[in-house]
Amino acid sequence: MPRINAVLTSAAKSLANSESPLLDAEVLLCKVLGKPRSYLRAWPDKRLETDETAAFETLLAKRQTGIPIAYITGSREFWSRNFTVTPDVLIPRPDTECLVELSLQLIPANQPARIIDLGTGSGIIAVTLAAERPHAEVCATDFSLAALHVAQYNARIYQTDISFYQSNWFVDVPASKFDLVVSNPPYIPADDEHLRAGDLRFEPQQALVAAGQGLGDIKAIAESARYYLDTGGHLLIEHGYNQEHHVQAIFKHYGYHRVQTYQDLSGQPRVTLGCISP
Ligand SMILES: C[S@@+](CC[C@H](N)C(=O)[O-])C[C@H]1O[C@@H](n2cnc3c(N)ncnc32)[C@H](O)[C@@H]1O
Repeated sequence: MPRINAVLTSAAKSLANSESPLLDAEVLLCKVLGKPRSYLRAWPDKRLETDETAAFETLLAKRQTGIPIAYITGSREFWSRNFTVTPDVLIPRPDTECLVELSLQLIPANQPARIIDLGTGSGIIAVTLAAERPHAEVCATDFSLAALHVAQYNARIYQTDISFYQSNWFVDVPASKFDLVVSNPPYIPADDEHLRAGDLRFEPQQALVAAGQGLGDIKAIAESARYYLDTGGHLLIEHGYNQEHHVQAIFKHYGYHRVQTYQDLSGQPRVTLGCISP
């Protein structure tokens, strides 16, 4: 029976196309053993049972075909919480924590607020905001019913009370006013070559691709959100690092004030924020 360190070394070699072969192998082995990564470091000479080796090889074979780790393990961490993910939803990205951080700055703790997350996917934004701001009323939409089921499951796990709507952006949201409209919408142009590489190949296209050079959904949201925002309310949208000027122009065109763009430490996707002034 093979030892943990030998299994990991050989698995990492077989994942040469991954950007993080050893980490991938470790995460998959942890999934099989039901242990944290520290266990692998503490017991490198432990021998695997036959059934553990077989289960690991099954997961490894999936990874060798390129299937993202999060779809194989069925989960991904976001804002220190573990979220269930399936191939029906975008894999949560650490960049989206920037949007959550800005949202939390706008919503004081212990005060009521009304928030809507458009295109909720696995529910990371809505669930995190509801958990961090328990006095807020949180709604979330997606037009994918399969995605909404994943988000509802995550909302239940973290005991958050979120109203979910299957809706094309605001179309089927009951008339109401919000203090915060947040969205990480699709924003990749259809001809972007990254769509044919890495994890993106396996993620739902409707979560990634937007018409109009990636700006179509951002425009649709900015246009309609102003009717749903209360005076003083804010719209926050995540977008690509190279879309800042276009997104700012869209916000200004639809009458948002104090338009600013922020980026997280990775410097990759950005968040543009605008507000409805009295
Ligand atoms: C980039 S993903 C973001 C998912 C999640 N909010 C996150 O940050 O991980 C965009 C989401 O918008 C949803 N979506 C795309 N077009 C939509 C539309 N017209 N109306 C509602 N949701 C839409 C997709 O199904 C997908 O779940």
